[in-house]
Amino acid sequence: MSGSALGDVHDQVIAWFELHRRDLPWRRTRDPWAILVAEVMLQQTQVGRAETAYAPFLLRYPDASSLAAAPVADIIRLWSGMGYNRRAVNLHRAASRIVIDYDGEVPRDQAALRGLPGVGPYTAAAVACFAFEAVTAVVDTNVRRVLGRAFVGLAPISMPMAWRLAEECLPQDGRAWAWNQALMDLGATTCRSADPQCGHCPMVDRCIAAPDFALGYPGRAVGRVAEGRPPERFIGSSRYRRGLVVEELRNAATPLSLAELRARLMGPPPSGTGSDPEPWLGGVIVGLERDGLARSTPAGVSLP
Ligand code: ADE
Repeated sequence: MSGSALGDVHDQVIAWFELHRRDLPWRRTRDPWAILVAEVMLQQTQVGRAETAYAPFLLRYPDASSLAAAPVADIIRLWSGMGYNRRAVNLHRAASRIVIDYDGEVPRDQAALRGLPGVGPYTAAAVACFAFEAVTAVVDTNVRRVLGRAFVGLAPISMPMAWRLAEECLPQDGRAWAWNQALMDLGATTCRSADPQCGHCPMVDRCIAAPDFALGYPGRAVGRVAEGRPPERFIGSSRYRRGLVVEELRNAATPLSLAELRARLMGPPPSGTGSDPEPWLGGVIVGLERDGLARSTPAGVSLP
């Protein structure tokens, strides 16, 4: 695509964004700490839930030093409802690094950002662009889908290819922030995985995949294979059990013995059986301790 055609795409997509953009709290700030918190929340939590948790979290921890100074148990409590609790521990570790290595200020350099616990290439790029307005690609699964369909076609593209493509079509004229946010909104609201709304898309006239969708190709069925691992069965999975245990620890005022924990999770043991904890419980606790989400002492198990 020529430079001027790409410029037209930028104009159309950003004009669409100005009209339809979602009013999200992390878009009203350039505070790097607030953006880092948002992007860590959004790694694995849906926008609506992250939106609910965001303001209370920042009110309590308005900067890296306030979070670094807090007991990690308080942060895990405040993380309630967001899932993937390990992120709360990593955010605490990242805040400590920011205080120790960067004088309490979130670094702007992407390599430095990637050195923080829990910050991978996506989050580093998102903070660089959305807080510091760096001209850099930001690729999550939504952006990969939008760019892949628009510029390559129906079949899903790999993450490395998506990053290359995203760098190649990044506007160089000061609009990278709006362009990257626009691609996220397009992926979330219009170029959806299962039922793309091509009639509402500003790129429909140029999109490689749009004619196939017009012919009735489904979205997700075609893309599923390359979208990553098949979804994990959640109920009964180890992540599910870990979440249950952390929730009990959040609610407990004092350390819990294994038997108490078992009783809270599963009720009293059937009569005639011992009160041995479920065999899986010990394994879950070992894993939670390893990840900094629990602590075992002779008094029992608690948040760290
Ligand atoms: N998902 C991850 N980052 C996002 C952002 N900045 N806006 C909307 N959704 C997102």
